[in-house]
Amino acid sequence: METSKEIKIQKEYINKVKELNKTKRLQYSILTMGCQLNENDSEKLCGMIEEMKYTKTDDFTEADLVIFNTCCVRENAEDKLFGKLGELKRIKEKKGTIIAIGGCMMQEKHITKKIHTSYPYVDIIFGTHTLHKFPENLYKVLEEKKKLEDVLDIDGKIYEGLPIKRNNNIQASITIMNGCNNFCSYCIVPYVRGRERSRKPKDIIKEVEQVAKEGYKEIMLLGQNVNSYLRVEMQEIKEGKMEDTGEYKEINSFSKLLRKINEIDGIERIRFVSPHPKDFTDDVIEAIADCDKVCKQVHLPLQSGSSNMLKTMNRKYTKEQYLNLVEKMKSKIPNLTLSTDIIVGFAGESEEDFEDTLDVVKKVKFEQVFMFIYSRRVGTPGDKMENQIPEEIKHKRFDKLKQLVESQIAQRNQEYIGSTQKILVEGKSKNNQEMLTGRTDSNKVVIFEGSKDLIGSIINIKIISEHMWYLKGEKINGK
Ligand code: 5AD
Ligand code: SF4
Repeated sequence: METSKEIKIQKEYINKVKELNKTKRLQYSILTMGCQLNENDSEKLCGMIEEMKYTKTDDFTEADLVIFNTCCVRENAEDKLFGKLGELKRIKEKKGTIIAIGGCMMQEKHITKKIHTSYPYVDIIFGTHTLHKFPENLYKVLEEKKKLEDVLDIDGKIYEGLPIKRNNNIQASITIMNGCNNFCSYCIVPYVRGRERSRKPKDIIKEVEQVAKEGYKEIMLLGQNVNSYLRVEMQEIKEGKMEDTGEYKEINSFSKLLRKINEIDGIERIRFVSPHPKDFTDDVIEAIADCDKVCKQVHLPLQSGSSNMLKTMNRKYTKEQYLNLVEKMKSKIPNLTLSTDIIVGFAGESEEDFEDTLDVVKKVKFEQVFMFIYSRRVGTPGDKMENQIPEEIKHKRFDKLKQLVESQIAQRNQEYIGSTQKILVEGKSKNNQEMLTGRTDSNKVVIFEGSKDLIGSIINIKIISEHMWYLKGEKINGK
C-alpha cells in the first residue's frame, strides 16, 4: 500500500479513538530512551496521542496510557525498561493503565519473548517500522480488549504527514533519513532500524519552512549517517533500479541540502548528527564553511583511536585518516569545534590500542566527548568475538579516559572566560528559574541573568566563569 494511503487510514483511526474518548479526561505519559532520533519519534507519537484526546503528564502513576520508546544500543536501557515495567504492574492492576512499548528494543526477538513470558500485562508491542500505526493499534486494544504485537522486519518506508508535538519551541529536530547500512561490528542499529532510506528533499524543506513559520530558530537534522543522505537513492537511479522522476535535480546530496536550508528565512542555526568520518567529503566541509547558519561545531564519532580497533569495528578509516580529516576541516572551517563518541573496551582492545585513543583525544582537543563502555549486543559480530575485555579493565580505561577528557574540558572552558559569545536563548534554566539558559555556536551551555523576553533571540554574552558542564555569563551593556 502507498504510504500516503496508510497515513490516511491512521488519521481515520485517530478520529475513531477521539470519538471513543470524547467524554473522558485521559492522560498519557511517555518515557523515551536513547538518541535524538528516538526523541523525534516520540514527538510524533505525542502528536498522534494528543490528537486522540490524551493530555500529557510526567507522573506515570497518574496516566491512563503509558508508552515506552526504547533503545537497545547499550544494555543499561534494558534494565531501566524492566525495572519500570515491574513498577507499573501494581498500578495497572488498580487503574487498568494501557501499557505500550515500542522502538528499537522491540525489534529484538529475545526481548519481546521476555516481555510475553515475564510481563504478560503489556498491551501493545510495536517496532521501529510500525510507529505510524499506533492509532490503529490503540483502537484495537481499546475496542477489542486484546493484547497486540505489531513488529515488522522489513526495510523501513518513509511516512510523511504524521502529526507532531515538539518538545520545545526554539529548536526543532528533523529526521532526514532512517536506518543505517554501515554495520559497525559493535552496533545493533542496522539490525533494528533497517536499511538506509532518505526523505525527499521537498518534504524536508517543507518541514523546515513550516517550523520557521512557527518561530523555531534552530534546526537539528537527524540521521544515523547524515552525510550519506540520498546516497542509496542516487546509486539506485544510476543502476536503473529506481525511476529518475527529476525530484533530485536540485538537491541530491547532504551538502546541497545544507545549502538549501541555509537560505530559509527565520532559521538562525543549523546543526546535524551524526555524520560518519568516512563520508565526510569536501563538498560537506565547504558547505559548512560557506553557510552562515550552519554551526561551526561538528560531532565526528571517533569510536577508537587505534587503526587496529577501527578495522575490527568495521569503521573504514584509520587513526591517520581521522586525524587528517580533522586537520583538513580545521583549516577550511575557521573556529571549528568538535565533539565525538568513543567506545572503550571493545573486543580485542589492548593497552596499546587504548593509548592510541588517548593520543587522538590529546591531539584533537574535543569540546565534548560522549564516552561509552562497550556493551555486547546479541546478533552483532562484536558479540561473537572471542577476546572480550574483562569488565574491570573496561572500567579502568573508562575512568582514565574520563579524567583526560575532563581536564581538557576544564582547560578549554578557561579559554572561554572573558570572551563574548553569541547565545541562542532557549528558556529559563532548569536548576535556577531566575536565570536564562542558552548555547554558544559550539554547543556549550551558558546561563545568565535576563528577562524572559530574550527567549528565542541570539544575544551577545560575556563569559565570566566556568563550571565544567556549563559556563556562566552576563549580558553586554545590560542589553
Ligand atoms: N556499546 C557501547 N557503545 C555503543 N555505541 C553503539 N553501540 C555500542 C555498544 N554496543 C555508541 C557509539 C555510537 C553511540 C551512539 O553509541 O559510540 O556512536
Ligand atoms: Fe551504528 Fe555504525 Fe550505523 Fe552509527 S554508523 S548507527 S555506530 S552501525
